[in-house]
Amino acid sequence: MTPRYRAVKGTRDLFPPETERWAAAEAVCRDVFRSRGFGEIRTPSLEHTDLFARSVGETTDIVHKEMYTFPDRRGRSLTLRPENTAGVVRAILEKGIATGPMPLRVYYFGQQFRYERPQAGRYREFRQIGAELFGVPGPAAEAELLEMLFAFLGALGFVSLSVMLNSVGTAATRAAFSDALRRHFSGANDLSEEDQRRLVENPLRLFESKDPAVRRRLEDAPRTRDFLDEESRAHYDEVKRLLSGAGIPWEENPGLVRGLDYYTRTVFEVVSRELGAQDAILGGGRYDNLVESLGGPPLPAIGFAIGEDRLLQVAPFRPPDRGLVLVLPQGPEALGEALRVAEEIRSAAFGVSVEVDLLARGFKKGLSRAGMLYEEATSRGYDRERMFVALLGADELAAGTVTWKNLATGEQETFPRSDLPQRFGGARAS
Ligand code: HAM
Repeated sequence: MTPRYRAVKGTRDLFPPETERWAAAEAVCRDVFRSRGFGEIRTPSLEHTDLFARSVGETTDIVHKEMYTFPDRRGRSLTLRPENTAGVVRAILEKGIATGPMPLRVYYFGQQFRYERPQAGRYREFRQIGAELFGVPGPAAEAELLEMLFAFLGALGFVSLSVMLNSVGTAATRAAFSDALRRHFSGANDLSEEDQRRLVENPLRLFESKDPAVRRRLEDAPRTRDFLDEESRAHYDEVKRLLSGAGIPWEENPGLVRGLDYYTRTVFEVVSRELGAQDAILGGGRYDNLVESLGGPPLPAIGFAIGEDRLLQVAPFRPPDRGLVLVLPQGPEALGEALRVAEEIRSAAFGVSVEVDLLARGFKKGLSRAGMLYEEATSRGYDRERMFVALLGADELAAGTVTWKNLATGEQETFPRSDLPQRFGGARAS
């Protein structure tokens, strides 16, 4: 049957066991982040459009052409968030905690929306895991944040990732660098309309150009490091020293400028070759002026966001498989007891799913479904060694017993239901 409705282009559905894997990775993440004093924040998916124009930057690709922006019923311009940092800053200002005790450490999970051309690893609705650290001007912030990030990546089984680093300096660096880029491109008369606009409005955005001629010309273009002030340079050197000391693998990428305007000094990305063209698993950096420019106090900050879809596409992480018990009532009259047996098993069991055949289709159909689940165990996230069927027929009901079948060995035995907790303890251990 062809479905009448399809998911909106660039969005997708996730099903078990993939959702189980996501949830397990998120649980690992919460552990790692919470153990460093980060607390979860949840902000709305909708914000006033102006928030993004002022933070991410009017002339960035994100704001210029990728936002889902629409007037609400009263004509106010709203936007589905394309990223979460601006919303977090808005939220802490609104709650008044940007003037409270520092440092302030928050993390978030959530959907983001960008009207990009969908392709592998690039969606119009995607999920990010992010963290933001406020109130620390010194490089210790970079060290803590990146150590936390690598603790999480390590827990997901990544072994050979390194972080690409650069410093984009201060507003003065950006201005001088922009002028130098304009001079570098002054003889280029073959620029597309889009790149001409970038050159005039915000030359840093040329780094987002897909035009091979522009990319070639950027290869010998000036670099941000040529325009760093003394303090930014010292900050950058100290960041590198601290990262090396913490054993975090890093490499410099002097061409890294990032696609959002709010960054100052340190910027970073982690890429994976396995992802192909959309290779950035995550990106982040320091944004010491953003809080103030959104109407708050001067407050240094730094953060990152991981593209969760991309992360889980390449992470070696696999959560432990679960055991499964299928409780099969022979007919509808055994359903009530079957539900009770299921509860008895659940209360004794750990890491096991217990399912009752609510349709009470009888032993034959139930056993054939069990066989099918056993065959597909690996792809469904079940542990083959811990898959069982509990049969409840008229005999079992009369005698207060259950017939227990081990799907891995085919062994079957009947025993009193009162033995279930001990029996199940044994099954759990195996
Ligand atoms: P971003 O580099 O725009 O930074 O996005 C971070 C990550 O989100 C990317 O590295 C990528 O993995 C993922 N991502 C972005 N667009 C898509 C897409 N269309 N489909 C799938 N994944 C995508 C930010 O969003 C900043 N807010 C990060 C930050 C936090 N900086 C400081 N604090």
